[in-house]
Amino acid sequence: MYNSRIIGMGKYLPDNVVTNDDLAKLMDTSDEWITERTGIKERRHIVKGSDDTPATMGHKAALIALERAGLQPKDIDLILFATLSPDYYFPGSGVLVQKLLGIPACPAMDIRMQCSGFIYGISTADQFIKTGMYKNVLVIGSENHSGGLDFTTRGRGVSVIFGDGAGAAVLTREEDNTRGILSTHLYSEGEHAEELSLIGPSTQRWVPEIIAANDPDDISYYPYMNGQTVFKHAVVRFSEVINEGLQKNNWEAADIDLFVPHQANLRIAQFIQKKFRLGDDQVYNNIMRYGNTTAASIPIALTEAWEEGKVKEGDKVVLAAFGSGFTWGSALMVW
Ligand SMILES: CC(C)(COP(=O)(O)OP(=O)(O)OC[C@H]1O[C@@H](n2cnc3c(N)ncnc32)[C@H](O)[C@@H]1OP(=O)(O)O)[C@@H](O)C(=O)NCCC(=O)NCCS
Repeated sequence: MYNSRIIGMGKYLPDNVVTNDDLAKLMDTSDEWITERTGIKERRHIVKGSDDTPATMGHKAALIALERAGLQPKDIDLILFATLSPDYYFPGSGVLVQKLLGIPACPAMDIRMQCSGFIYGISTADQFIKTGMYKNVLVIGSENHSGGLDFTTRGRGVSVIFGDGAGAAVLTREEDNTRGILSTHLYSEGEHAEELSLIGPSTQRWVPEIIAANDPDDISYYPYMNGQTVFKHAVVRFSEVINEGLQKNNWEAADIDLFVPHQANLRIAQFIQKKFRLGDDQVYNNIMRYGNTTAASIPIALTEAWEEGKVKEGDKVVLAAFGSGFTWGSALMVW
C-alpha cells in the first residue's frame, strides 16, 4: 500500500471585496454584530457578469496547484470537485474543469459534502492512490455562494457568513509510509439534513412549480441554517473527529504543527483551539478575510498557510471540518 501526499496547492479569490459595512447598506446588520458572532470582516463576491464560476475559479486554483506540483494537466488521473454550488444542476463541475484543463479523458467526479467536501475529497483521493489505481489526483473545492443568497434583512442570518472562492490540491503517490496522509476520518448524520440546507429548486421543488406559484415569500430557494443547532453539533463533532485522528496516529495535540479548521465561524475555531490547548501559532484562520467558503475554505486556508511559510516539510498537519448533512471529518498528514 502506498501513501498519498499533497505536492501542490493553489487558490483563487474573486477581486470584489465586500465588507460588513457594504452588507449593512443592503440589510439591517452591522460590522459589530458580524464581527462579534463570526469573526468575519470581509468576504469576496463574484461580480455578476464576470467569468468567475465554480469551475473557472477551480480551474485557476488548479493551474497554480499543478505548477507548484511540477505536473501538467495530462498527468492527472482523477479529478474530484467538491462544491455545493455547482455551475449546472447537471453535469457536475468536475467535467467542466476537465474541459478547461484540456484533459481528453479521465474520471471527473463531483463531491457533494458541503463544508466537509475537501476532507471527503482528499480522503477519496487517498484511497485511490493507496490501492495503486491512480497516481496523481486533483482535488478542488470551489463555491459561488453570492449568486444564491438573500441579501435582504430576511436572509441576514445566512448571507453575512458565506463568501466565494476556490482552492485546489494535487496529491501524488508517496512510497515512504511515514509521510503524506496518515489517516482520514469521515462521518455523516442525515438525521439533521434539513438544519443547514437548500431545498428548492430540487426534485422536491421543481422550477416550473416555483415559477407558477410566483410567491414572494417562498424562500425555499435560499439556504436555510439553524445557526444554534449547527454551532452545538459542530463543536462536539470537531472535537470527536480530531481526537479520533490524534489517537489513531498516537499524536498529542501538542505535536500538531498546524491545525487548519474549516473556516465556518471564528468562534467555533477558537473553541476548538482552547479545548485542545493549541497556541496561536498552531492554528490557521483566515475567515476574517474570506468568510465561510464551504468546500473551498480548507484548501484556500492551507494554500495561504503554505504561501506564508507556515507549513514546512515534515510538519504534522491536521485538517477538520463540519457542515451541512450533517457531515464532518478530519485528515492527519506529515507534510
Ligand atoms: C449564525 C450565528 C452567528 C447566529 O448567532 P446567534 O447568536 O445564534 O444568533 P441568533 O440566530 O439567535 O439571532 C440573534 C438575533 O440576531 C439577529 N440576527 C441574525 N443575523 C443577523 C445579522 N446578520 N445582523 C444582525 N442581526 C442578526 C436575529 O434575527 C436575532 O434577532 P432577535 O433576537 O430579534 O430574534 C450562530 O448561530 C452561529 O455561529 N452558528 C454556527 C453557524 C455556522 O458555523 N455555520 C456554518 C456551518 S459550516
